[in-house]
Amino acid sequence: MTLLEGRTLFRVHLKHLYDQNEIDFYFKILLSHFFDLDATQLALTPSQELDVDHIEDLKRALYDLSEEKPIQYITGLAYFRSLELEVTPDVLIPRPETEELVEWVVETYSGKQIPKTILDIGTGSGCIALSLAQELPHCKVIGIDVRSEVLKIAKKNGERNKVAVEWSQQNILEWKNGSIPADVIVSNPPYIMPKEKNAMKKNVLNYEPHLALFVEGEDPLLFYNKIIAFANQHLTPYGRLFFEVNPVYIDALKQGIDNIKTYTYSERLDIFGKRRMVCLQKG
Ligand SMILES: C[S@@+](CC[C@H](N)C(=O)[O-])C[C@H]1O[C@@H](n2cnc3c(N)ncnc32)[C@H](O)[C@@H]1O
Repeated sequence: MTLLEGRTLFRVHLKHLYDQNEIDFYFKILLSHFFDLDATQLALTPSQELDVDHIEDLKRALYDLSEEKPIQYITGLAYFRSLELEVTPDVLIPRPETEELVEWVVETYSGKQIPKTILDIGTGSGCIALSLAQELPHCKVIGIDVRSEVLKIAKKNGERNKVAVEWSQQNILEWKNGSIPADVIVSNPPYIMPKEKNAMKKNVLNYEPHLALFVEGEDPLLFYNKIIAFANQHLTPYGRLFFEVNPVYIDALKQGIDNIKTYTYSERLDIFGKRRMVCLQKG
């Protein structure tokens, strides 16, 4: 099979699901991943034969894409700020909105007194914890998650990127680990209600870990309220809590916080113009 034949195969079999630019983009990612071929190779030598050893891998990837499996789970890699991260179906694929949340934390502390300890609650692939440890050097960063399988991936990502983070298996809903004073708490907790499933795309619903996406029960703010209660005890004075939020519930969250009066509230829009990020500074 030549490079051009490969791309035609992809265009024909995937055209009912993705637009052509997206198909070509996936094909180029897979060329690089399986054949170590540069994106320009297709334009330069379209009749170049593909290495037979990896044609089956390419065909399997085509099948996976036709089943709407995210490309990051096919290659096992995702990119987040300056990190290359391993991702498996145990961990959420890091999102661009979350990169913006990290940007807000970094911006808040650049040129100022760097926080001593940062805690990332629900660390997943470790994307937030590792970026903050890399971009705010000299901080101690702790990443917690409820699942040991998730923490194994986060740990591997620390080693892969040569960034030091302390990992700990903890259930934030049943915190039993004593005192942990933090100057900054960051969290992108599960924030989708099961009733929103119908509106979700198959590539998310069928492949990403439900424990990372959904809040069980009736309270969409369950994790936020628990984390705020945790911050009441463990966040140092003038420390900040940064959240990624479901825009649907941000007003309810704000109202609850206005009632507490211990925190100064601010929020930011994401690149799609959605009210997605909240910062609470302890008074
Ligand atoms: C939305 S994902 C965020 C992952 C990662 N921080 C990111 O931004 O891509 C939420 C994470 O919270 C973890 N989680 C779910 N319930 C938890 C709990 N009770 N305690 C701690 N972590 C929990 C999940 O395993 C998942 O990794």
